[in-house]
Amino acid sequence: MIRFENVIKRYRGTSKPALQNVDFEVQRGEFVFLVGASGSGKSSCLRLILREDTPSEGRVVVLGRDLRALPNRKVPYFRRHVGAVFQDFRLLPTKTVFQNVAFTLQVIGSSKGFIQQAVPEALALVGLAGKEKRLPHELSGGEQQRVAIARALVNRPQVLLADEPTGNLDPATSVDIMQLLARINAGGTTVVMATHEAGFVDQMRRRVIELRHGEIVRDESSGGYGDTSGIPRLGPQAERGAAATAALTAVQELRREISETGQIEPVRLDQAPAAETARETAPAAPHPDAEQPPITRPAPAPRIPEVSMDELGLADRLGLGQDDDEVGPTR
Ligand SMILES: Nc1ncnc2c1ncn2[C@@H]1O[C@H](COP(=O)(O)OP(=O)(O)OP(=O)(O)O)[C@@H](O)[C@H]1O
Ligand SMILES: [Mg+2]
Repeated sequence: MIRFENVIKRYRGTSKPALQNVDFEVQRGEFVFLVGASGSGKSSCLRLILREDTPSEGRVVVLGRDLRALPNRKVPYFRRHVGAVFQDFRLLPTKTVFQNVAFTLQVIGSSKGFIQQAVPEALALVGLAGKEKRLPHELSGGEQQRVAIARALVNRPQVLLADEPTGNLDPATSVDIMQLLARINAGGTTVVMATHEAGFVDQMRRRVIELRHGEIVRDESSGGYGDTSGIPRLGPQAERGAAATAALTAVQELRREISETGQIEPVRLDQAPAAETARETAPAAPHPDAEQPPITRPAPAPRIPEVSMDELGLADRLGLGQDDDEVGPTR
């Protein structure tokens, strides 16, 4: 799906190459973290995959196309298959949420009918149904990033690239975005994410490719961040920490379900967080006859109103609270 073959990238006017003999392959459906210190070459890799740049030597093959051989006029068509999100969201400030997402489709000449159908679907997927008419500045940082993700996904790309997508968000909102990316990946989209967030990388146990001075120094199928001594960690905050744990537990549950059943089931609302409710609301088992040993029955599942998963934001599904306390970008 994505293949780097001994890639060297030299930028004009620099003595040392930004990427040196970078060689890896990403299979369809993988979730890959690209990690490494600032300047190690993460964004350079993503730019090569997106064909914003070409290698000085070696080959980058994405979706079966050698990107150096791809003529410029074909690049826009290629990019329809590769969505991208960035740290600074890159939304159009004077356009509404709907228009921001629709823009991608308008540019490629999609029909009005298709746009009317696809945009609300993408917004529902990221939990933003009902916010179509807002302008970006009327949204929290997490919501803005979700708009950017909806825009990247509206075209149903096979690959989603994310360059520090949580870099401007607070820890709880970052968990929310990570959840969303994990869910998108569970739906079959290949995800490559550059990040400094050691906490996520450690906890999600996905493939990790680590760069140092432009070279791959580690490629582990389910690694942690590695030597994290030099990397700032997420600050411990009791409530946020609990929310993060709940969210990541849910991701692990989802992954377990997929690996066991081979199917993508929507996360059930009566799982982990609801188990607490079940314990609280289940009536004590009656003991009509003290002679009889009590019959242990599973507590009845709490009644959950029928809700389409797509209508819910991840934070809502996971009981992570409202979005009101999210903070916006720091710059
Ligand atoms: N357009 C450019 N021209 C010259 N040098 C560049 C250019 N883009 C990146 N570089 C250099 O290439 C190296 C890798 O940069 P890159 O942006 O890929 O790093 P990064 O791992 O994404 O860092 P960060 O974590 O800070 O985003 C750096 O030394 C950087 O200064
Ligand atoms: Mg970068």
